[in-house]
Amino acid sequence: MGISKKEMSSRPTGKVSYDNSGRVVLVSGGAGGIGQAICEQFFRSGASVVCMDVDEKAASKLSKGIAFYPGDTSRESCCREAVDSAVEQFGALDVLVNNAAIQPPDSYVPLHELSQETWNRMVAVNFSGYTFLAKHAVRQMKQQASGVIVNLASGQAHRTARQVPCYGPIKAANVLQTMQWGVEYAREGIRVVSVSPGAIDTPLVAASLEAQGGGQDLANRHPLGRIGRPQEVADAVLWLSSPAASFITGTDLQVDGGLGAFGAFADPYPS
Ligand SMILES: NC(=O)c1ccc[n+]([C@@H]2O[C@H](COP(=O)([O-])OP(=O)(O)OC[C@H]3O[C@@H](n4cnc5c(N)ncnc54)[C@H](O)[C@@H]3O)[C@@H](O)[C@H]2O)c1
Repeated sequence: MGISKKEMSSRPTGKVSYDNSGRVVLVSGGAGGIGQAICEQFFRSGASVVCMDVDEKAASKLSKGIAFYPGDTSRESCCREAVDSAVEQFGALDVLVNNAAIQPPDSYVPLHELSQETWNRMVAVNFSGYTFLAKHAVRQMKQQASGVIVNLASGQAHRTARQVPCYGPIKAANVLQTMQWGVEYAREGIRVVSVSPGAIDTPLVAASLEAQGGGQDLANRHPLGRIGRPQEVADAVLWLSSPAASFITGTDLQVDGGLGAFGAFADPYPS
């Protein structure tokens, strides 16, 4: 996928200092990529974790002890059942991570070539799915008078490129969902935050590079000189959902190796 392993840092991963014992966490799209790292980090730090995903086969590779709910986030009934299943199994819902999103190859087109089918599916998963899961999570969190919702947005929520007429605008909407829900429930003990990753080494990015013909030097576009690891996004999610971030709500954190700070006018780094 055009990204050499030596460009990745040697930072040890998988070590978490947060204690999530007794907390119940629901992660959508937790069977692969960033969601999988989030499930595993929460699980390692003591949480009871439910992974909701459409990919049952991939979910079988999660650590034993992580519960699985097979479901499609674009269907509200599945979202309600996933929340109910977490509460029935573990008695509460402390953290929801809205992570499941898609970027199919046929979405890489200029606006005038976009099909209604592709648009509708991306809105259904990447936007409506976040709303449905949050709606049912909030019902439970209001009863508890506590909870945290973390939305996975994207660097593409903040700046854009050619041929992404769906993905970027919908990711921007994820940041506005974060702000609106954060404001709505601030007095009810519920915090809402989002993270906007730069390019992270996951199947979604591999497929995206392929759809764009390959050959991009993605690592070099990040001031840190490499793309990120799923665990590095998971670290940010764990911190934001911990009491250490108790005064943070309705806002977005860019976890992007400096990508967002790097101006288009700047001299490119030598390859
Ligand atoms: N990888 C990146 O570089 C990057 C950058 C910015 C933002 N993000 C965001 O981070 C999140 C995770 O991305 P990723 O790269 O790990 O993706 P991924 O494609 O590697 O994994 C996504 C997971 O979601 C699941 N999924 C897809 N549709 C679903 C549905 N309707 N219901 C339930 N599960 C579903 C998939 O089966 C898969 O397990 C997404 O919101 C994505 O937009 C990723």
